[in-house]
Amino acid sequence: MSDDDRSYTSVLLPSARVTLFTRDAETRAAFEAIRQDWRFARVTLDVVEGGVNDAINTYTSYASPDLVIIQTEEIADGFTDRLEALGGVCNEGTAAIIIGPVNDVNLYRRLVNLGISDYLVKPIRTEHLGNDIAATLLKKIGATGSRLIALMGGKGGVGVTAISETLAWATSDMLGQKTFLLDASGGWSTLSVGIGFEPAATLAEAARAAVEKNEDSLGRMIHEASDKLFVLSSGSDVMLEDNVPPEHYETLLNYLMGIYPVVIVDLSQSPSALRRVVLTKANRIVMVTTPTLPAVRATRTLLQELKDLRGGASDEAEIVVNMQGYSAKNEVSKSQIEQGLERRVAVVIPFETDLFVTVESQGKKLHEDKEGVLIAEKLLRIVRDVISGAGSDGTKTEDDKKSGKLSGLLTKLKAKG
Ligand SMILES: Nc1ncnc2c1ncn2[C@@H]1O[C@H](COP(=O)(O)OP(=O)(O)OP(=O)(O)O)[C@@H](O)[C@H]1O
Ligand SMILES: [Mg+2]
Repeated sequence: MSDDDRSYTSVLLPSARVTLFTRDAETRAAFEAIRQDWRFARVTLDVVEGGVNDAINTYTSYASPDLVIIQTEEIADGFTDRLEALGGVCNEGTAAIIIGPVNDVNLYRRLVNLGISDYLVKPIRTEHLGNDIAATLLKKIGATGSRLIALMGGKGGVGVTAISETLAWATSDMLGQKTFLLDASGGWSTLSVGIGFEPAATLAEAARAAVEKNEDSLGRMIHEASDKLFVLSSGSDVMLEDNVPPEHYETLLNYLMGIYPVVIVDLSQSPSALRRVVLTKANRIVMVTTPTLPAVRATRTLLQELKDLRGGASDEAEIVVNMQGYSAKNEVSKSQIEQGLERRVAVVIPFETDLFVTVESQGKKLHEDKEGVLIAEKLLRIVRDVISGAGSDGTKTEDDKKSGKLSGLLTKLKAKG
């Protein structure tokens, strides 16, 4: 699996059930270790001691899972016959991966022709199996291929909103990607001034409309900042109330990710419950800090919590040091910040009051300024890898859907019979 594929599968996977039939202790251990992988938080991974015949027996009486993985030592014609029988008892759309004893191109082709998602050869490594399962589930259940980018500060006022807006404009104007900028701060939002619109709704109303699948009403709450940049025209919420249930917010996010290839969320001033929803799902997290001790310390703590939230990994987080030069004699150097955070600083943005406050107050775009464009380019560099291919490589095309090419075993077998 290429690096690109890995970044495509670096998302919280949809709820799904995966069952492995094996008699091999090593494969079982590799499979069970996938439970530690944060992407699989919503995936149920079951193991059954047995092989293809046991799978046939099981699914004759019970509903088959989203993905069934069968390990076999026997790969002669008899085995493919058994697979056909398995296809006959599985639910429509069940995908299958086979683990076999030897590398065999002809067998591989035969299996793929049968609608098998992949053929793996033992010994199986957890990482490889995890990526394979992730790719299969994303293709089968349908990820949107959308990329979620979250921006957050360890401390308030470090420039998260300014940077989110710059990144959103740069992604839409400079990369030409259809982008949605979502603000999770409700009544604290300053987006209406930054982007230039009248708040027409509350975040809570938008989230409710998404839950009720009221697309017309949601559509009316979306402001078109340009032909490529869209924002929720929320912001008229009550400032002192947290009234968006996290699960409603997640539904809104999923809805937006189904339509917009890139969704950028400004998490400054937002309730922790919403932050957790976004940070768990994000493909890239931009952590903004100023070069001051309190901000760097807070960022360090936040990174630690992020790691816990994402099951031990925080590789998706990139550090932006903003407002460098704001108070030179009180600032921590870049190398000290890197030491303190135990990771490299991706971008340093100088303190430029005139530039930023003009942009903010007049609803302008930072990248239209000759100094601002340099900042926008630097910011794009830290998201370019996740954005490239957004909306394409994870999305089923209409043709794929029609042919059922990705959804598995049964469709093909039924077609034969
Ligand atoms: N590099 C910079 N140089 C000068 N001013 C900046 C810079 N970055 C941001 N600002 C300004 O600092 C102020 C705070 O920025 P912003 O509102 O983006 O921060 P925030 O992290 O979103 O804050 P909050 O926690 O209140 O949501 C704004 O007036 C913004 O224009
Ligand atoms: Mg803000």
